[in-house]
Formats: sequence, C-alpha cells, structure tokens
Amino acid sequence: ANDHAHHSSGNTSSSSANSNPAVSVSQLTGPRTGTPDRKFTLTAEKATVRLSSGKSVDAWTYNGQIPGPELRIKQGELIEVTLNNKDIEQGATIHWHGLDVPNAEDGVAGVTQDSVMPGETYTYRFVAEQAGTFWYHSHQQSKEAVQKGLFGALIVEPKTDDMDPKVKDITLMTHRWNETFAVSVSDSVERMSIEPGTPVRLRLVNTDDWVRQKYQLTGTPFQVSAIDGSDLHQPEVIENTLLELTTGGRYDITFVMPDTPVFMGIGGKNKLGLFMSPDGKGDIPDNSTVAATTFNPAAYGSTGPVPFHAASRFDRNFTMILDNKLGFYNGQFNNLYTINGEVFPDTPMFMVREGELVKTTIINRGAVDHPMHLHGHHMLVLSRNGKPVTGTWWSDTLDVLPGDTYEVAFRADNPGIWMDHCHNLVHAAAGMTMHLMYE
Ligand code: C2O
Ligand code: CU
Repeated sequence: ANDHAHHSSGNTSSSSANSNPAVSVSQLTGPRTGTPDRKFTLTAEKATVRLSSGKSVDAWTYNGQIPGPELRIKQGELIEVTLNNKDIEQGATIHWHGLDVPNAEDGVAGVTQDSVMPGETYTYRFVAEQAGTFWYHSHQQSKEAVQKGLFGALIVEPKTDDMDPKVKDITLMTHRWNETFAVSVSDSVERMSIEPGTPVRLRLVNTDDWVRQKYQLTGTPFQVSAIDGSDLHQPEVIENTLLELTTGGRYDITFVMPDTPVFMGIGGKNKLGLFMSPDGKGDIPDNSTVAATTFNPAAYGSTGPVPFHAASRFDRNFTMILDNKLGFYNGQFNNLYTINGEVFPDTPMFMVREGELVKTTIINRGAVDHPMHLHGHHMLVLSRNGKPVTGTWWSDTLDVLPGDTYEVAFRADNPGIWMDHCHNLVHAAAGMTMHLMYE
C-alpha cells in the first residue's frame, strides 16, 4: 500500500493547472533564473544508521544521516536545492513541510513532479518567504520514506536585523523506529552547557509517521512562541505543562536559561531528550510523572492582528468529515481512513479561485486523532468545538482529536494543485488524502 503513488499513473495534474489561462506559469514555479543566495545538495541514499538506543538500522537517508542535514536559511533568500537519488528504488522527492512554496517546488510525486529515480537529479528553487521552523521529507510513498529516515530540519531565520544574536537556537527532532527512538542527538540524552541568562529557542519537530509525542520541559517556566512555524501573539508564560505534538507539527519553546538544570524530554521512563545546565553536568530530572496540565493551543496567547476572522464573509465553505471503516483498499481488507465517507482517490477535491477566502469545518467522527496537513497554505484556526480560539494560531498540521470540530480559514493565494491529508502517514496511505485545486 502506498499513499500518493496512485497518482503516478499518468495523472499529472500540475500540467492541467499549467494549462489554465487564469494561472500564469510564473506563479506556479519558483524563480528559474538568478543566482541563488544559498545552494544545497541532498543525496537520497541507503545507509546503516546507529540510533540513540545503540541499535543499528538499515535506513533511507539524505546524505547518509538521520535527520538529513539541517538547512538553515534566511527569510527572503533564494534557495536552490539539488536532489540526487543514489539508490532509493521507489524514487524520492523533497517536500518542504509547512513552507508555502510555489506549487511546482512542493515536491509531491505524481502531483507536482515525477518521482526522482536512482541516478536522476531534480532541482528545487524558491524564495523562503516565511521565517520559522519547518522540515523537509520525501513525498513519494511517504509512509515508508519518512519512517525509514528521509527527512531533515528546515529553519528559516528572520531577516538579519530582526535577529537577537545572543539567542541559543536549537532544533530537536524526534522519530520512532519500531519502538526505538532516533533523536537528533548523539546519545539518548544530549548534554549541552548554556550560560545562565541566555535566551533559548528550542525548536521541536515531531517527524514520526504515527505517534503524537509527549514532551515535558522541567526546570524553568517557558513560552510556546510559535506553532507550525508561525509566531504566536503575546504567548503566556507557562510551566509544568505537557506538550503534545502531533506528527509533522512543530512547537518553538523559548525561555531564559536559569542557573539550574533544564531538561526537555519525551515523558515516560525512557530518558530521551536534551539536558541543559551551566556546565552541562548534573542529574537528569525524572519526568516520568505526567504534568497536571496539557498545553492547549486553542486557549493560549492573545489575539493579534489577523487578516480575517470568524465573522468575515467567506467565498467558500467546505466540510471535511474524518472517520474510519473496514473495507478493501489496494487489494487488502483493512482499516480505511475516510474523508466524507470516501477513500482517496474518491475523496472530494476542493475547488477554489485565486483570492478567495475559504472556510473549512473539520469534524472527527472517528476513534483516533488525525493531524490534518494542508500544503501550500496556512490555516487560521477560528474555533474548536464551537468556542472561539483565544489567540492568533496559524496551523499547517492541525491535530483533530476524536469528537473535535474545528473551523479554520485560509486565503487561496497560492495557485496550483495541493495535497490535504492526514500526517499520520499510515492513515494517508489508507485513504485519508485529498486535493485542493485552483480553477
Ligand atoms: Cu509532510 Cu504531504 O506532507
Ligand atoms: Cu489520521
């Protein structure tokens, strides 16, 4: 079973979008000419990788490592990334998860490009318009590719004059490998010495293809300063709060380093995470007891300036009902994950025109959570279960829990054909995938 491979069978929808006279080709690709500010080469290749547990696994990697190299760039820069596929037989691409790039640069095999086969090369070029925490991963049979390691961090720093050079900026990606974790640290717990008084930004990225991860920060009050790469407005200072981060989602955690130890770890008996203290030494605190409160993004921060809100006039109103059922799919009797009762490719295709304001109501009638990921756009979360969201919360990977109803809205400002799917990649491969298409 694979997720997006159905589309490889000649359904090259990007070319049909190109032929639409209302959409010019220049909007669908990044700048094809001009000297890039930053150039990277990523080679998709098999490698044997040692996990934090000490176990070795046969992995699929970018440049022989998991995660792949961290791409750290500045907002406004023109980026050129060359993908070489050395030996991944099913092919590979690079999708820039959460960064709203032009459609042809989005890296979805069978939709925006062909899968890059062994010996082949593909070049992505785009201007990084948004600052924030993103990640990249292959989008050819993503369930298998992401699980096996084809991913890395993509950090877009704000323009130089907005940056505080004193900030200690750290990325922590966590990934599960059949019950064993691969963390972006060399050991189960990485130790770091940080001088007291230093402002710290900890970028959490959950790259798991299945598990919603529970993190706890012990030793200091903190703020959740950004969700899915977008800054929150006046985030509150909290502590002793469990951070549940859905697959594909990101939280930026900020705090000022105290003169006592701080530990960011995955809750539970396993000691996994990042230990920080003035000299890097000290005992790792026990974070196996779950914090009393769980972070709730819907009731956090305060409302900042927003381009639209719940009372705006919407040009389109869509409803997505998420559920599951038993049935045959790809020749197997299985648990299927449905949108409006259907599995891909029979799921609805939402049609929009450029410039329209679109509201979507997402309802989870099933028994498990669904992190819904919309490519190419950011959704402003308007309400959860009928209650308006307190702060200004933009999401690209929204964790919709069983029984939840969310209202979200976005501006259709990025023409093309876009994926909208569950980022539990097992669910995506078992039907929970659809498209957003510009007329
Ligand atoms: Cu992170 Cu369509 O994926
Ligand atoms: Cu799901």
